[in-house]
Amino acid sequence: MVGMVAVLAGVATLCTLGKVWADDAPAAVDYTKILPADLVKNTPQGKLVNPYKDTQADVVAEGAKFLQSYSCSGCHGGGGGGGMCPPLTNDTWVYGGDDDTLFRLVTLGSDELQKAGYTRKGRENVVGPMPPFATIIKSSDDLWKILVFVRSKYNGDPGYKYGAPPPPPEPQ
Ligand code: HEC
Repeated sequence: MVGMVAVLAGVATLCTLGKVWADDAPAAVDYTKILPADLVKNTPQGKLVNPYKDTQADVVAEGAKFLQSYSCSGCHGGGGGGGMCPPLTNDTWVYGGDDDTLFRLVTLGSDELQKAGYTRKGRENVVGPMPPFATIIKSSDDLWKILVFVRSKYNGDPGYKYGAPPPPPEPQ
């Protein structure tokens, strides 16, 4: 009987540990220390989530500065509203509007993203390749801040801020 209790307790401990690890996994990433290129390589597709919100005014302000210093603004305009290249602020998302897709697009550029299986779903005024910023952007943290600035400038249909909303459930 005592043996049985010990075994059960052991199993319970293992399960708890498994759960703790699973819960802790995303928080364990220090985005300031990992290049966007490495983060993309090490994270399964669809799992990249911006740790910041566009209601954090200080982070948004930093993102605005990075948009200039990494010269995104040269193509997309200082407010991300478009220039020579597509606007980042409207509800047309070329490959998808979720955090994961945007992070991968900026990191890999259009050509590598397409090699990874993505296709253009949306059409902007300019159809051309987005250059890769894999190792130009110094940390994933910088890129998350840029992307949160982009979110803050969004001026399209609220339902499409993070890409097309999920389709309504099939009638039963
Ligand atoms: C040389 C010009 C150029 C530069 C510099 C540039 N981009 Fe782009 N960007 C593009 C083009 C062109 C596209 C459209 C890509 C396509 O159609 O495959 C694009 C697309 C995007 C999109 C997707 C827009 C949508 O509507 O789906 C985002 C987000 C983006 N760029 C962010 C950035 C960020 C952040 C930077 C700076 C780190 C940056 N870009 C620098 C040219 C540029």
